[in-house]
Amino acid sequence: MTVAAIRGDFLHCLRDPGLGGEPSAVAALRDGLLLVRAGRIERLAPAVDLLPQLGAQVAVHDWRGHLIVPGFVDTHVHYPQVDVIASYGAQLLDWLERYTFPQEQRFADPAVAADAARFFLEQLLANGTTTASVFCTVHPASVDAFFAQAQRLGMLMVAGKCLMDRNAPDGLRDTPDTGDADSRALIERWHGQGRLRYAITPRFAASSSEDQLRRAGQLAREHPDVHVQSHVAENRDEVAWVAQLFAQRRSYLDVYDHYGLLRERAVYAHCIWLDDEDRRRLRDSGTAASFCPTSNLFIGSGLFDLRQALTAGVRVGLGTDVGGGTSYSMLRTLAEAYKVQQLLGTSLHPAYGLYLATLGGAAALHCDGRIGSFEAGKDADLAVLDPVATPLLARRTGLRDDPLDRFFALATLGDDRAVAATYVAGVARHRRDPPASGHR
Ligand code: GUN
Ligand code: FE
Repeated sequence: MTVAAIRGDFLHCLRDPGLGGEPSAVAALRDGLLLVRAGRIERLAPAVDLLPQLGAQVAVHDWRGHLIVPGFVDTHVHYPQVDVIASYGAQLLDWLERYTFPQEQRFADPAVAADAARFFLEQLLANGTTTASVFCTVHPASVDAFFAQAQRLGMLMVAGKCLMDRNAPDGLRDTPDTGDADSRALIERWHGQGRLRYAITPRFAASSSEDQLRRAGQLAREHPDVHVQSHVAENRDEVAWVAQLFAQRRSYLDVYDHYGLLRERAVYAHCIWLDDEDRRRLRDSGTAASFCPTSNLFIGSGLFDLRQALTAGVRVGLGTDVGGGTSYSMLRTLAEAYKVQQLLGTSLHPAYGLYLATLGGAAALHCDGRIGSFEAGKDADLAVLDPVATPLLARRTGLRDDPLDRFFALATLGDDRAVAATYVAGVARHRRDPPASGHR
């Protein structure tokens, strides 16, 4: 059985620290050693205690001076939108028509999908992200391409084929029948294969007929263990359009509720323009909201009020939403999350920021039994952060010798340059520089 040990300063959340940042919810271990056996965490303990007990055959990956956190969890992102990033001058509906749909049409070609999937996963790993909830395109082969690459890398990934049978251009529409049949076949083929998980993925209410949404809800009922993902209440024009399309429903969120698409393992991106009743429904159904700050700022959608959502008891994760979002980095995403909350009068505590990017995201996806912290038995997914990756980071992190303050500085100033390595199930899948590991 493969055994490895990873050495450095460790920081992780044991549970939800709340917006106030309850200190006992966060654990820091200076010069720790994480023992990994067959991809799982066996033990995290001080290096001085554990090193003498290790057999000579155990490879020690020496990351002393680095801050090691659980692999980041991106709760909302579109892999086919790698070439949509940084598209100028549009808000949501216009942005979809002008930039996004034309790119997604290209994914009818499996070679385009395979190339994008490979590049996308490399980007995630370069940014310390080990799990994501991912939209593919309407084409089932886009899901095959994505899962095949994720499987090769051993990553815990949630993904699904977009259901979209109206208000989309030629080549990007399915039908209630084909969408349902394709989703069923993909669940059969991929859900539960290793660490892969399927998500029933109605793109958003405006691009699915009532018949399609009804059948998506039925499919979800038949597969309680499968995920659900969509968008809701992102942009004011979108909200007004959905109100016209579904005049009989109380609200945009109520459309999904009506069709049985709110539940545990369901994640809805944005959730900006909701009311109190909507938030109660999210809470009561166990549905999670994905907060996507770089997207919300870049396409001018609005400000997600984290305090309001948490006060209502809603589960929240953090998402990059690339191509609406502007970075694959969860550090960059945390920096923007902090600024959005500042505008709303809340200073997002570093402990809660860490939670959102790791254990909280895992909980939003109901995968916190497997990932999100360094608890023994969990999968050994982790990001090795370099507090001195740039001269400015070195200067700032040198000011205070406190792991949480270091993490806050890394989130505020860092990006992929600050990710020295990323491990998936105990295997280094990304290294920024030549290996610093060795055999003792
Ligand atoms: N709403 C429907 N489709 C999309 C998408 O691709 N990105 C974003 N941000 N919102 C959407
Ligand atoms: Fe999105």
